Amino acid sequence: MRLYRTREEMRAAARVFRAQGAFVGLVPTMGYLHEGHMELVRRARAGCEKVVVSIFVNPTQFGPNEDFDAYPRDTERDLKLLSEAGVDTVFLPDVAELYPPGCETIVEAPTLSRILMGRLRPGHFRGVTTIVAKLFNIVRPDRAYFGEKDYQQLQIIRRMVQDLDFGIEIAGVPTMRERDGLAMSSRNVLLTPEDRAAAPVLNRALDEAEALARGRPDVAALRKQVKDRISAETRAEIRSVDLRDAETLAPLRGRLDRPAVILLAVRFGKVLLIDQRVVTPEGDHE
Ligand code: PAF
Repeated sequence: MRLYRTREEMRAAARVFRAQGAFVGLVPTMGYLHEGHMELVRRARAGCEKVVVSIFVNPTQFGPNEDFDAYPRDTERDLKLLSEAGVDTVFLPDVAELYPPGCETIVEAPTLSRILMGRLRPGHFRGVTTIVAKLFNIVRPDRAYFGEKDYQQLQIIRRMVQDLDFGIEIAGVPTMRERDGLAMSSRNVLLTPEDRAAAPVLNRALDEAEALARGRPDVAALRKQVKDRISAETRAEIRSVDLRDAETLAPLRGRLDRPAVILLAVRFGKVLLIDQRVVTPEGDHE
């Protein structure tokens, strides 16, 4: 496995892959890898001839009061996992390498970025699209892999790729879960033992909602059901529960008549957890 820290080296290596005619997959990460990331890597390995994984904790997607410094890091362990998984190349730049002095251009999908999680975390998705666009330009992969867990992020990146004609295929990979249903996330290690025990309520609420959604319920009633289920867990502090069109993320009203996504943002102590589920009413043949 090759490790590159500069854009120059990474670009040169990617050029060689292209010259070899290899189909290149990119898995962008912020490190502290868990099974969710490793599933992205496995998919990339299965679907691409060369796999590049980037590890970069991107400061521009953290707000001023957010946990950039507290974000967990363990590069040594990450590199061991990636090497064992058969990754060809790791791109491990530092902040000065990707944001040199004078760097000011941003990439943003303004409508999709400012709704839902974007309202709770102003500027977050602008940071994500900017760094992902930079990584796409440096590596120039044929396909890039993102988890469905960050559903809004995935839809925003799809939008950006389409709008800016990147010509890169975006592969969404289903959420990996712990045995008790908690969606895997690097933030889970920050939970206290009590909050960790309480957090699987999110998955239980989504399971129930998925079953209810088959019967084409009223959207408001379904949302209330999810909120009530989560609020029954006293350690959970709901920040948002949203039900949106699964593709456009537009709000829904009345009877559920199309695939929808339920998006959760819930605090446990200091840790904001997100989870999501696409639910489909029965009789929907889209
Ligand atoms: O999902 C993440 O880990 C990050 O938002 C990403 C896509 C690597 C950009 O920093």
